Amino acid sequence: MKSLMLPILSLLVAVNMSACSWDKSKPNVEVIQDMMESPAIKAQEYDESSPGHSGMRLPPENTAPVGFTPYKMTFDQAQKELKNPLAGDMSKDVLMTGQKFYVTNCAVCHGTNGEGSANSSVGQLMALKPPSMLTEKIRGWNDAQIYHTITMGQGLMGPYASHIPQKYRWQVVNYIRFLQSENGK
Ligand code: HEC
Repeated sequence: MKSLMLPILSLLVAVNMSACSWDKSKPNVEVIQDMMESPAIKAQEYDESSPGHSGMRLPPENTAPVGFTPYKMTFDQAQKELKNPLAGDMSKDVLMTGQKFYVTNCAVCHGTNGEGSANSSVGQLMALKPPSMLTEKIRGWNDAQIYHTITMGQGLMGPYASHIPQKYRWQVVNYIRFLQSENGK
């Protein structure tokens, strides 16, 4: 069997290459089927066998992905009931993870050092200027209030739940605490 594989493969490659060298203005000859178009259904595609005829299916009712806890709190509930499992943890790992997500998602509006919109690329162009993270107000908030704002947004600011996975959001909170400790008021 092995002795047959090599000649067959080289024949296929040769046929494929000669197909490519034909008139380039014409569509290519598809020698190996399913290489150009995958049989897998894409999320937005029509799917005959799916209930809503959409490739994107809803998860079964009352199920959640492993490691995901549904978030149903209000700002006030979070303030009272939610605790930061990483409270006060300023280790390198935590801060570097927080920094990565802060710089990627928040700095364009709230500034690289949390100083507000003055030097930020997007924030300074907004009519309502994104506030500083270094104010008395945010220093006075507890960790859960910041976590809640990241998860649900606030007023003009949209939620960042889909940008920052649950397991990395507290690191962002700690990073904001770090910025507050490093930068004066
Ligand atoms: C597109 C710009 C934008 C981005 C990106 C953004 N924010 Fe905001 N943020 C705002 C604006 C504007 C407000 C004020 C919203 C309001 O009160 O209507 C705000 C408010 C806040 C507040 C409350 C501040 C206060 O004084 O009330 C916190 C905390 C906050 N943002 C944290 C974050 C964090 C953390 C991120 C990144 C995950 C982030 N924001 C990303 C624009 C942004």
